[in-house]
Amino acid sequence: MRNSSKRGSASEPAGKARKPPRARLDERLADAKKFLLPTYKREPVVMTHGQGAYVFDSTGKKYLDFLGGIAVNALGHAHSRIVKVIRREAARAIHLSNLYHHAFQGPLARKLAEWSGMDRVFFSNSGTEAIDGAMKLARLLGRPPGESAATPARKHRFLALENSFHGRTFGAVSVTATEKYRLPFAPLVPGVEFVRFNDAADLEAKFDDTVCAVLLETVQGEGGIYPVSEAFWDRARALASRHGALLIADEIQCGLGRTGRYFAYQKFAAKPDIVLIAKPLAGGLPLGAILTTEAVASRVSPGMHGTTFGGGPLACAVALEFLSVVEEEKLLENIRARGEELREGLSKLTSQFDFVREIRAEGLMIGIELSREGGPFVAEAMQRGLLINCTHDFTLRLLPPFIITRAQVREFLKLFAMVLEKTPKQASASDAVDSAIPQGAVHAAARG
Ligand SMILES: Cc1ncc(COP(=O)(O)O)c(C=O)c1O
Repeated sequence: MRNSSKRGSASEPAGKARKPPRARLDERLADAKKFLLPTYKREPVVMTHGQGAYVFDSTGKKYLDFLGGIAVNALGHAHSRIVKVIRREAARAIHLSNLYHHAFQGPLARKLAEWSGMDRVFFSNSGTEAIDGAMKLARLLGRPPGESAATPARKHRFLALENSFHGRTFGAVSVTATEKYRLPFAPLVPGVEFVRFNDAADLEAKFDDTVCAVLLETVQGEGGIYPVSEAFWDRARALASRHGALLIADEIQCGLGRTGRYFAYQKFAAKPDIVLIAKPLAGGLPLGAILTTEAVASRVSPGMHGTTFGGGPLACAVALEFLSVVEEEKLLENIRARGEELREGLSKLTSQFDFVREIRAEGLMIGIELSREGGPFVAEAMQRGLLINCTHDFTLRLLPPFIITRAQVREFLKLFAMVLEKTPKQASASDAVDSAIPQGAVHAAARG
């Protein structure tokens, strides 16, 4: 039986710790330090479990989770309906292979088609794989039907945006603008060019008939919460159609409800040709997807693309449940309402702090841009029992679960007020601006 006095519960206030089981903790951290590839800068804590919008560490300390596993835990932790489906399906079939049908892929594809207005779905394991698959589709469509595949297609170029982030595989990193992610691995996929963010004239200047796709995050996430403007989206759609290229919307972070709409692009009239999703889709299990049109799908035949794990029965059953919960519990309404409360509360609170430059928010996707380095604020928040993160050095990012309550918004604002007050002053942005952020262009566009 679960011992709630040891495991920490959702009713205790965030930030309280019990006596740490020191020896075990240190051993695990030592193993991690010695045996893991050092790809991450991790906090020296061992997280053990979560409940709703809270996470607990091995000392029993409770954190209000306003990062949600970087936009994954949309239903928080241990949601009863997700846990139930995982238990049920794990006892039936975790994996069957894509050589056979199972009960969940077809219905899940239908539901995603209904949500998105797309026609066909391919399931991957992650966001980056969805990006790479979409890039392959764009190259495939770039070649006229029947043309020999022996020579490279003339229509092969990708246009991506400055300040973008699309993932870590070779294709995805090739269309990711940030140099520190790209340069160590060059040469990358050839034919990629970056367009200034929300600069339709720059897009037009770089577009011609050799472009097979324009790829963009509808709201840039890692870049610091920057929404693509309607004017830019419309021009991208028109240019893609005129030049026979695909418009690909990366909705891996901003899609599936995060902005208060099923998909972020649904605030625009024009639809993309491909939509990419992942993060919250399967309640924390790895699952991504490429959603596309019948026109694109008509060029695909068996064997052209595939995956061993993608679209397995357990992950798909959970994803179906996730989508049902979002619908049945009217979570889009909650996202919009809580998002508005957060935006208002933050505007009021941050007006007292001159180092807060701007707040950018769409639903529960919120960026707070500072003129100081954000790292110390993240550390102070953690100290006080609040999980947030910082992207591009100066933007604090909030990606709370869709299920947060009004009381949790208030709890957050109280904790965050203390974080803003108590964090010691560090270097200012003018001392150390990250050269990867196209500051002028991006800010003007985001405000305009
Ligand atoms: C917009 C966007 N695209 C792609 C990715 C890559 O997804 P994954 O980490 O699942 O490979 C991410 C991950 O943060 C993302 O935010």
